[in-house]
Amino acid sequence: MTKRSRPGYWPVGAALLLSIAGAACSAEPEPPSSAPATTAPPTDETQVVLRGIAATSPPEVAVGKTLFEQNCSVCHGPAGDGTTQGPPLVHIIYEPNHHADVAFLLAARNGVQAHHWRFGDMPPVPGVTDEIVLEIVGYIRWLQRQVGIE
Ligand code: HEC
Repeated sequence: MTKRSRPGYWPVGAALLLSIAGAACSAEPEPPSSAPATTAPPTDETQVVLRGIAATSPPEVAVGKTLFEQNCSVCHGPAGDGTTQGPPLVHIIYEPNHHADVAFLLAARNGVQAHHWRFGDMPPVPGVTDEIVLEIVGYIRWLQRQVGIE
């Protein structure tokens, strides 16, 4: 109910011109105005893809989808929405500006030390080449776009 003044607000002059474009690029996960007022506050970063979206994925990400399911979904969930073994990759912290494609290459190659979550470390994924990971990234980026993460 109580609205606190938000920090980091831009000077009014610049904001006037840029607010529309800026809002689209902002990392601040503001829910759409249609969201019920009773849900978690806008700072909550748990936006995940709805299960079932993968079923409607277009042909151009089909290969990535299959590779993701074979190599990653056991931990990251069938639609990148997370499991008890790993975090959702369809999440604002993995948007392209925060985790570029190279982060995915490195994750598969070297594994990941737990730092964002409490799932533990991600082990390296053997047998997954950079080419394979880039196909997978194509699928994940598509999933992310379905929920407005770009
Ligand atoms: C055995 C479980 C497991 C598997 C399999 C797995 N991951 Fe992960 N992954 C994790 C966990 C756990 C984390 C979170 C680490 C943390 O706390 O930040 C993670 C994090 C990541 C990250 C974030 C890296 C960063 O820089 O923060 C990426 C990208 C990623 N995984 C991609 C993949 C891809 C692509 C695959 C398949 C090729 C895959 N993962 C397979 C468990 C897994």
